[in-house]
Amino acid sequence: MRYAIISDIHGNLEGLRAVLRECSLAQVQALLCAGDIVGYGANPKECLAIIRQFKAMAVAGNHDWAVGGRLDFSHFTDDGRAAVEWTRSQISMEDIAYLNALELSVKNKDLILVHASLYQPQEFRYMTDVSKAMESFALMDVPVCFIGHTHVPGVFVQADGKSYYLDNSTVEIQPRYKYIVNAGSVGQPRDGNPMAGFCIYDTGLQTIELRRVPYNIHEAQRKILEAGLPRNLAFRLAVGK
Ligand SMILES: [Fe+2]
Repeated sequence: MRYAIISDIHGNLEGLRAVLRECSLAQVQALLCAGDIVGYGANPKECLAIIRQFKAMAVAGNHDWAVGGRLDFSHFTDDGRAAVEWTRSQISMEDIAYLNALELSVKNKDLILVHASLYQPQEFRYMTDVSKAMESFALMDVPVCFIGHTHVPGVFVQADGKSYYLDNSTVEIQPRYKYIVNAGSVGQPRDGNPMAGFCIYDTGLQTIELRRVPYNIHEAQRKILEAGLPRNLAFRLAVGK
């Protein structure tokens, strides 16, 4: 099976379309979404329609549940809170029901998918170092877990009792090792690279590829400004921070 894992789309339709074009060229067979379909960007409705149309296996991000009403978002940044309120005004009751029905994690025979971490997923903790990854490795009964949330792509590996971090773009899966793969962000990358990020997992080749694809950032920015969303949400797209 050739999976594409996308995360943190955040209502960025231009980023999502560019990633889906790349997925089609790469002959992806199934689309998985690690959460945060909405929030920040100007096209939450359109992004939700695409994810639902693809019947993507998807999990809840903190922004998805905040918009749906399932998560207290008083601790979000000013920009984040403004985006939640604006997004609520743009989507249908059916969209809200879809967001609230998303589970914290889903699993199949090949992988497990969660937005932030397997350890206390409802807390939406940022997996920013190996010690945090180890809490989740302990809970894995399949070899590969895909996450998002930090908007920074990378791979945590556990091998022979040792855990470490790789920022390689391609990883060959080794037997008996465990992997937690952050797919990066389609709609608001924060690693200094403004291109849309996503991941391809090929179970036949046993490879994981972290990919980047250019998209029409200018158009995504224009829509954010036109919608009256916080201006910084447009500016940051150009710098990937
Ligand atoms: Fe996010």
